Amino acid sequence: MVESNMNNNRRTFVAAIVAVAAGALATLTPLAVGVATFLSPLFRKHKNHHVRVALLSQVPDDGLPRYFPVLTDREDAWNRTPQQRVGAVYLVRSAGEAQPIAFTAKCPHAGCFIGTTSGADQFKCPCHTSTFRLDGSRVRGDEEVSPRDMDRLPLELRKINGENGLSVTEVWVEYIDFQTGHKQAIRTA
Ligand code: FES
Repeated sequence: MVESNMNNNRRTFVAAIVAVAAGALATLTPLAVGVATFLSPLFRKHKNHHVRVALLSQVPDDGLPRYFPVLTDREDAWNRTPQQRVGAVYLVRSAGEAQPIAFTAKCPHAGCFIGTTSGADQFKCPCHTSTFRLDGSRVRGDEEVSPRDMDRLPLELRKINGENGLSVTEVWVEYIDFQTGHKQAIRTA
């Protein structure tokens, strides 16, 4: 009888320990994942790059496309490399417009860098000859190899105090890397 009671007590004690351990595991696992996510760059989400690409004075309002590289600090799992080229943009400012429009130079078909025709009156991709108007639309619509028009990028103008206290206007874009080969513009993860 005494031995039976002892066995029961032991079983109850072990069951209590197991329950406490399971509870602690359930609580601490999400916490540990959260801490790891916060601390490790491996878990950091992709950041969009807001990048200064030009001065407004470099983009006259003549409607012609201007090409600018996109330089930004690059991060891999643990390292940060400053001012690496991650892409390029075209800025086009029509007559009388205060603000240019921005396109990524990456072709929506397979990612080649889009060029311009000799008169710079159209964009043309050298890889499979997709041709775009200066507003980014495909010249032959769905008959072009490119499945969609050129991808526009959000743009903003920022005034800063330059040398000699003169105000200077910078052109900033949100450089977005879009997936290729789709009809819709989808951001890469
Ligand atoms: S990559 Fe531009 S048309 Fe194919």
